[in-house]
Amino acid sequence: MFTLTDLPYSHDALQPYMSKETLEYHHDKHHLAYVNNGNNLIKGSEWEGKSIEDVVVGSFGKNAGLFNNVGQHYNHMHFWNWMKPNGGGSVPGKIEKALVESIGSVDKFKEDFIAAGTTQFGSGWAWLSVKDGKLVVSKTQNGESPLVHGAKPILGVDVWEHSYYIDYRNRRPDYLKAFVEHLINWDYVLEMYENATS
Ligand code: FE2
Repeated sequence: MFTLTDLPYSHDALQPYMSKETLEYHHDKHHLAYVNNGNNLIKGSEWEGKSIEDVVVGSFGKNAGLFNNVGQHYNHMHFWNWMKPNGGGSVPGKIEKALVESIGSVDKFKEDFIAAGTTQFGSGWAWLSVKDGKLVVSKTQNGESPLVHGAKPILGVDVWEHSYYIDYRNRRPDYLKAFVEHLINWDYVLEMYENATS
């Protein structure tokens, strides 16, 4: 059974960068729908009882309904933790070192990450993930994640309109800039990086 866990902060904690109204719709309604649909669709399937990562990877290209909903559940359960009040700020040393080695600099990462989110046509996500021991920036459509492309995500940003339209209307680049500068929870990125590389 998939479950919707509470946000790790109050609904108004990310203001002014992400409003209470956005989180009420995005977490309480959109994410809940993915959880409920995933639970209904997995019943009696070959993936019942498997880990969420195995369901996401296994159903990709085989069961679109199940993949879309469980993929989005996976993405969103991490997304809430990839943000925190007074986020952004300095990057942990270990991540900074890896970004410099793989991408060139922290600033280049920010530029590439924002560009990936801006240029994702339609709904999707922008990512930072570990692939073949290196950090890579990428983008995916709809509910896909780097998991289905042989990589381990350590940071992702939702660029579906439900993530930013109430607060930013059509200004997706402004939302992405605010996410990078004021919302990212680098402690959680570091935790995922350590799990991905251990
Ligand atoms: Fe979303």
